[in-house]
Amino acid sequence: VRLFLDSADRGAWERWLPSGMFFGITTNPTILDAAGLACRLPVIADLARDAFALGIEELQVQTWGTDTLPLVRNGLALAALSPRIVVKVPVTFEGVRAVAALHREGVRTTLTAVYAPHQALTAAAAGADYVAPYFGRMGDLGHDALAAIVAMRDILAASGRATRLLVASIRSADDLARLAAAGLDTFTFGTKVAEGMFSDENTANAAATFEATAARGA
Ligand code: E4P
Repeated sequence: VRLFLDSADRGAWERWLPSGMFFGITTNPTILDAAGLACRLPVIADLARDAFALGIEELQVQTWGTDTLPLVRNGLALAALSPRIVVKVPVTFEGVRAVAALHREGVRTTLTAVYAPHQALTAAAAGADYVAPYFGRMGDLGHDALAAIVAMRDILAASGRATRLLVASIRSADDLARLAAAGLDTFTFGTKVAEGMFSDENTANAAATFEATAARGA
């Protein structure tokens, strides 16, 4: 299993990373913006330094640019910050060409904003390390997101490549459980889902009973 915290908020990192559950952090320009951060190299360099100081294995940051060349140029600059950075790229035509170029340079990549099974095949063929389908957003569009992601799982298993399915846009702990039961093992989600994983009333009651008993002494 490999879990990522989908947040660029340092407060959220400090709360959640010591839980030991998270292998890494994922971000994108929207997530940076929500944390009041600009999608600029010096800002991301500071962020990466802080993230690695908190002990994560991997930080995923998204490159930017409207064509392949800037996507590659910015991706190379991001990757130069640390060998533990994975460069995210949207699975557009320009983005796939950028991933192929970054792969040739030895940079690890995630093809993101994935909505359809064939895009997993594209990602494997281009040499992406991860492919990130948007589970919740596919459901918002009325698609059978679970079936589509299971198809992606099968496509990657048959591809002969090591491309890993990183399921994103997860909205609840139940989503996570359904996906994990279907054989998925790599997920990114934000703090709302993380909080939801610790909101079981029965567990809270059982823990309170243990504490009350312990407090009474032997
Ligand atoms: C992934 O890169 C996105 O940040 C995220 O998973 C989107 O989640 P949402 O669809 O719930 O906004």
